[in-house]
Amino acid sequence: MKLLVTGAAGFIGSNFVHYILKKYPDYSVVNLDALTYAGNLENVKEWEHDSRYTFVRGDICDAALMDGLVRDVDAVVHFAAESHVDRSILDAKSFVQTNVIGTQVLLDAALRSGKKRFHHVSTDEVFGALKPEDEPFSETTPYDPRSPYSASKAGSDHLVRAYFHTHGLPVTISNCSNNYGPYHFPEKLIPLAITNLIEGKKVPVYGDGMQVRDWLFVEDHCRAIDMIVHKGMLGETYCVGGASERANIDIVKQLLSLMGKDETSIEYVTDRPGHDRRYAINFSKIQKELGWEPTVTLEEGLASTVEWFMQHEDWWKKIKSGEYQDYYETQYKR
Ligand code: NAD
Ligand code: DAU
Repeated sequence: MKLLVTGAAGFIGSNFVHYILKKYPDYSVVNLDALTYAGNLENVKEWEHDSRYTFVRGDICDAALMDGLVRDVDAVVHFAAESHVDRSILDAKSFVQTNVIGTQVLLDAALRSGKKRFHHVSTDEVFGALKPEDEPFSETTPYDPRSPYSASKAGSDHLVRAYFHTHGLPVTISNCSNNYGPYHFPEKLIPLAITNLIEGKKVPVYGDGMQVRDWLFVEDHCRAIDMIVHKGMLGETYCVGGASERANIDIVKQLLSLMGKDETSIEYVTDRPGHDRRYAINFSKIQKELGWEPTVTLEEGLASTVEWFMQHEDWWKKIKSGEYQDYYETQYKR
């Protein structure tokens, strides 16, 4: 099978490329990525010279390029997105452009090239925010996005479903909770906290730190996507979660303890506007239908993630210093 993986220079997409190329010796992957600030070819450097791997720098909004690439593969696994909520609050334009328009361009390319199999990677944030007593999100929870990021992802999910119903495009969607693990970009809570603590800096905790997220080790997410791509029911959505709901402050305290620090390393800062209070996922559909469930506990996953960041200082120090941008510009000028 030949897969077009969009956004595979980013966090989850790059983990997915590692997962697929290691699991299926006869598969090949085309990594299409625009190399925005979040794209980093070092994440997939291991495959640079492998004949089963090709990198193309490009924008998913480029219809001619997408037509050519999609025509040449068996399936599209679509990760490319603007993914950081705080950035969407500062400026929503690129979120609408990439997440909504870009997804529509890719769907059209899939349609024009003989209705290619299309898997869309989405988020639990499209469902809004839960109260403490609410049931976790499931596939039937009404959409209620509350940030420009989640609104743009909700828009893309609706388009994907519309192409199934209107055009019979063979699609699936996964809505997953917060991932963490290797290659996590250090603007997100867990990698920011770990790298700040290694650097002897404080960890910024928004508001009272009592917002709850459900955390899933990234490789478990990759395995869920693999199962959906191969065995998922066309036109269906699958909720994917880690059964690990934690308040942000508890995640930070767990990291402090793993890294031998105390609570003087916490700095409470102004809250995120419109900050969603709680996410949680009921993943019983994918568990029953496809036999997927998380395999890495939060305790194991956090410990191995701390270890990974300690062993990969070069990787994140370049990102934090901004050096990696020059690397891309010299290596992959359009
Ligand atoms: P990321 O920000 O780390 O990576 C996004 C990648 O997409 C980058 O490599 C970037 O260069 C690329 N990209 C951005 N705009 C592009 C464009 N116009 N054309 C081509 N490439 C472009 O994101 P991530 O955390 O790896 O998330 C991947 C996907 O998974 C996203 O769709 C996100 O909504 C979804 N998701 C993320 C999480 C999470 O916890 N990170 C959870 C659930 C779902
Ligand atoms: O739920 C899935 C989503 O998880 C994905 O769709 C998004 O792409 C991904 O970025 C993530 O969104 P969050 O906003 O939940 O992740 P983030 O790491 O930015 O924040 C996690 C929580 O920690 C959130 O409640 C905000 C808080 N936070 C975040 C940062 C960066 C802090 O308290 N301090 C911080 O410095």
